[in-house]
Amino acid sequence: MTDATQPQEADWRENAFDLTRGIAAYVDNPLVAGLARVIGRHPDADVANAFNHKQVACKLWARDMLLQSCGGTYRDIWIVGGWYGVLAAMLFDDTRFAIGRITSIDLDDNVAEVAETLNSANAERFSAVTGDMYRMDYATGRPDLVVNTSCEHIANLRAWLDLLPPGTRVLLQSNDYFSEPTHIACVPSLEAFTVQAGLATIDFAGQLPMKKYTRFMLIGTV
Ligand SMILES: C[S@@+](CC[C@H](N)C(=O)[O-])C[C@H]1O[C@@H](n2cnc3c(N)ncnc32)[C@H](O)[C@@H]1O
Repeated sequence: MTDATQPQEADWRENAFDLTRGIAAYVDNPLVAGLARVIGRHPDADVANAFNHKQVACKLWARDMLLQSCGGTYRDIWIVGGWYGVLAAMLFDDTRFAIGRITSIDLDDNVAEVAETLNSANAERFSAVTGDMYRMDYATGRPDLVVNTSCEHIANLRAWLDLLPPGTRVLLQSNDYFSEPTHIACVPSLEAFTVQAGLATIDFAGQLPMKKYTRFMLIGTV
């Protein structure tokens, strides 16, 4: 970065911080207030990417279809590959849901602190853990819902699902966005995703066309 761009970058952050704080006050919304806190405290977090309109659309879809197909009452939700905790914040923000607690698990040690900041309005019901979804103890933890909207990022979906106790409810998303380099396990269709996951029961299977790719979602049990 050149010296000439540094003040602009600082201005941009400050403007974004002021603007999100203002919007949060106007709409009286803890999620938007959380975004403002993230911009203020974690200037390097790529939160604009995690909360862009496509990411939000995919998570609104997840929330609505989960409610429709399985209801809104959950004791303990684990969100693996949870990144900055946006889906957790959106679930806490939705009064149609009654949620005991949410744990967000991610391999990247830069994201837990940001996820905690974003979800600080629900700090007593939220925790962010740095860890590998392939190494979590699902049998002891017994979450009643496991969410993985990062299936396109993991090498072997079925091997991961095999770690979950039989009967565990899951919500899975993947996509056909093959050209994105970090997407190591995209699927070409909903049918291919259904075969890849091999769920024992399926409550919902659908696709959401976006401009550059289609997102696929399965809700069911392992
Ligand atoms: C780019 S993000 C999320 C994209 C996705 N569309 C979403 O918003 O849910 C993918 C995340 O998966 C995480 N991840 C990849 N492999 C993982 C693993 N084995 N265990 C936990 N997290 C993992 C990455 O660190 C990253 O934060």
